[in-house]
Amino acid sequence: MQEILQQLEEKRAEARLGGGQRRIDAQHAKGKLTAYERLDVLLDEGSFEEYDTFKTHRCTDFGMAEQQYPGDGVVTGWGTINGRPVYVFSQDFTVFGGSLSETHAEKICKIMDLAVQNGVPVIGLNDSGGARIQEGVASLGGYAEVFWRNVQASGVVPQISVIMGPCAGGAVYSPAMTDFIFMVRDTSYMFVTGPDVVKTVTNEVVTAEELGGATTHTKKSSVADAAFDNDVETLLEVRRMFDFLPLSAREAPPAIPTPDPGERLELSLDTIIPANPNIPYDMREVVTKTADEGNFFEIQKDHAGNILTGFIRLNGSTVGVVANQPMVLAGVLDIDSARKAGRFVRFCDAFNVPVLTFVDVPGFLPGVSQELGGIIKHGAKLLFAYAQATVPKVTVITRKAYGGAYDVMASKHIRADVNYAWPTAQIAVMGAKGATEILYRSELGDPDKIAARTKEYEDRFANPFVAAQRGFIDEVIMPHSTRRRVIRAFEMLKTKQVPEPKRKHDNIPL
Ligand code: HXC
Repeated sequence: MQEILQQLEEKRAEARLGGGQRRIDAQHAKGKLTAYERLDVLLDEGSFEEYDTFKTHRCTDFGMAEQQYPGDGVVTGWGTINGRPVYVFSQDFTVFGGSLSETHAEKICKIMDLAVQNGVPVIGLNDSGGARIQEGVASLGGYAEVFWRNVQASGVVPQISVIMGPCAGGAVYSPAMTDFIFMVRDTSYMFVTGPDVVKTVTNEVVTAEELGGATTHTKKSSVADAAFDNDVETLLEVRRMFDFLPLSAREAPPAIPTPDPGERLELSLDTIIPANPNIPYDMREVVTKTADEGNFFEIQKDHAGNILTGFIRLNGSTVGVVANQPMVLAGVLDIDSARKAGRFVRFCDAFNVPVLTFVDVPGFLPGVSQELGGIIKHGAKLLFAYAQATVPKVTVITRKAYGGAYDVMASKHIRADVNYAWPTAQIAVMGAKGATEILYRSELGDPDKIAARTKEYEDRFANPFVAAQRGFIDEVIMPHSTRRRVIRAFEMLKTKQVPEPKRKHDNIPL
């Protein structure tokens, strides 16, 4: 009996070695952790329950029958993060480069099915060369099974992908259909085809870093939501983010007790808006001063800096924040910022996360490249997302709310629930100078007349009271009381219910 128990321990130890000590050493030499070591960092100590430790592939071609590794290149199961459950898979690059075989896919599918059934998120640690080349179509079928489950789970349980090595082919399409993608700087890559194939097909010479490194995907392509310096930091940040999310769409996001009083006043916000409307200020400061303990987990921080998106807590409860950032392009709405914020609002709405919007927006960005790039359709994504969202929506206009961007940024008209404005708010079709130049074109030659017209327009519209007179703004509030006001608004909205139209699904402009 003792011998049998001993054998189990030995088999487990063998499985932990993956593709062998030589390949583990190579993984460490690149600054990467192994599949098991990563789970040790991600999950609470001792919480991991592994499944299918001894599952092996069934391929016999290309001498594969003789190359068997228990677990077949992926570690799967569940554990906890700060006590809350999560299903996980962690691909093992030391076994056939973490490539996905039919059985490797079956292991991932098993935990995804359990996650959806039990209403628990999935975190995938991806370190994979894509479809296992020796298996051919069996591997492609395996990927498609994973893709199908990604789609079925979308909007049901949060899905988070962490890219922790060179990921190619199918290894990037599954993450692409999850809610969030995090990367590790210098050791992780994402591309449909790598630099060698690119050179062969298009004759372009490009490095892996340029083609699919963390900088490329967090700044330019916006495929990834954030990048961190190494495996440990990345996994710890995923833990931090996980604490903001509900386990599934069936639940409210978690509430974590905070020592930060809901009544806290921020007197510094009374002077944050510069006297000159063309001088920027840092909207991130407004967000952090409103949030519990200044804690703001930003999503897509390095992309489209003219809008901020991310999670905060108010009185302990998770809230999604969208905020125009006057420090970048004057906070204008353009293709990138509309796509970024639209996707974020849809995540929040799918998972019962209320949305707080800070508005300081001079309008949509004019220009040929924007129009040819489809700003009409991309801008509509954000408008659609806000109008569709039925979670509690609270809006604070701090300064400019001009033109179509006023409508888009969670205005009353598209069913925000509570709309506040600071006394510095200016709600108008456009800025006073532009308006005057259109309305009084014939007087453009006379600077004094134009100055007087501009002043007249400013006096009429450069304040929140015209909108407040119509009830488009529920109340003009003191900036220092913003935290208290929005916390109280969200408390009252906790019981919000909205009837939804009967339809199969909407048709958001993609
Ligand atoms: C089988 C693979 C593999 C794969 C890597 N390996 N990729 N085995 N199938 N797809 C093996 C290698 O043979 C090697 O085995 C070990 O993993 C490490 O690989 P290296 O090449 O030595 O590592 P590195 O130099 O770091 O390069 C990593 C890599 C490269 C960039 C991922 O291996 C690579 O380009 N692989 C192929 C990527 C690819 O084209 N995949 C198919 C995509 S198509 P040993 O025994 O030496 O340790 C696809 C279809 C789905 O995924 C599409 C759905 C839309």
